[in-house]
Amino acid sequence: MTVQLQKPSPGTAQRCGRVAVLMGGDSAEREVSLNSGDAVLQALLDAGVDAFALDLRGHAFHQLAELEADRVFNVLHGRGGEDGTIRAVLDFLGMPSTGCGVCAAALTMDKVLTKKVLRCSGVATPDFIELHDEADCDRLLNDFGLPVFIKPTLEGSSIGMMPVHEAEQLFPAWRAARHYGAVFAERFIDGAEYTAGFIGDTVLPLIRLETPRDFYDYEAKYLADDTIYTCPSGLADDQVAEIEDSVRRSLAATGVSGWGRVDLMRDGEGRHYVIEINTVPGMTDHSLIPMAAREAGLEMPELVLKILESTLGREDSDV
Ligand SMILES: Nc1ncnc2c1ncn2[C@@H]1O[C@H](COP(=O)(O)OP(=O)(O)O)[C@@H](O)[C@H]1O
Ligand SMILES: [Mg+2]
Repeated sequence: MTVQLQKPSPGTAQRCGRVAVLMGGDSAEREVSLNSGDAVLQALLDAGVDAFALDLRGHAFHQLAELEADRVFNVLHGRGGEDGTIRAVLDFLGMPSTGCGVCAAALTMDKVLTKKVLRCSGVATPDFIELHDEADCDRLLNDFGLPVFIKPTLEGSSIGMMPVHEAEQLFPAWRAARHYGAVFAERFIDGAEYTAGFIGDTVLPLIRLETPRDFYDYEAKYLADDTIYTCPSGLADDQVAEIEDSVRRSLAATGVSGWGRVDLMRDGEGRHYVIEINTVPGMTDHSLIPMAAREAGLEMPELVLKILESTLGREDSDV
């Protein structure tokens, strides 16, 4: 199965006018966002777009209200940038921006709410239990069982999360995650990990991720050189089609559109589960979306232009 992404239409770079690349911010993913932002800015400039960087720190509202731009490319990861807050301000100011709408962004920032919506829509996601207090941890040990994966509900970049295989690891893991707010535990999936990027209606070629580490943690994501990425994933066409179907149903259920990434795991019996949906995924040269887009025929400058193209209203477009 070869997926081909349509190239952006000629003249898109000029029609986009002046573009602010929002990056950095105040979230726990600030450093990653600065790296993504630099890569997006460089690629936009290479594509001929009149783009500039804006590190959104502190009084974001004032910075946005005074913004002299025609549109925004949002590469703010995590809270603030990825949860719909910034998008709401931009909508309020009448400033077009990349990515999905406020409601879908806010929903998918919350991993538990996302899982509840996926469940209701018949998309498989691992069983989970919310851990509000120590009594919930006891309930987990008595009723839910181990192994589990402990995660902050509202964080990304593998921050504050860890697998728990033994009872004595549970409370320390819960306390560490608690530092980032609400916490939940998810059934541990012993299997392979995949991610599916999407641009508009196109689901990009699947990537398989493998790490010798315990899991795909911060180190494996951004620093280690022993993480193995395989794209296309090596799965048979019918298995890819099944996963793609779950990806499309996840997007439809949550209302996510524009661009982003759905993370999945596949267990030893070949059952796959949606783990989470990212609405502003990493965009450095080594990130997963650029890797999958390259496989689908688009290099970084064409890719960022393609994402930006979606912000052009009918009045700006020649189609
Ligand atoms: N239920 C699970 N079972 C096993 N590993 C998991 C599970 N959930 C997450 N992981 C591992 O943790 C990583 C980060 O989890 P994820 O929910 O995607 O959070 P993030 O937003 O930080 O990417 C995954 O890429 C995977 O390696
Ligand atoms: Mg993830």
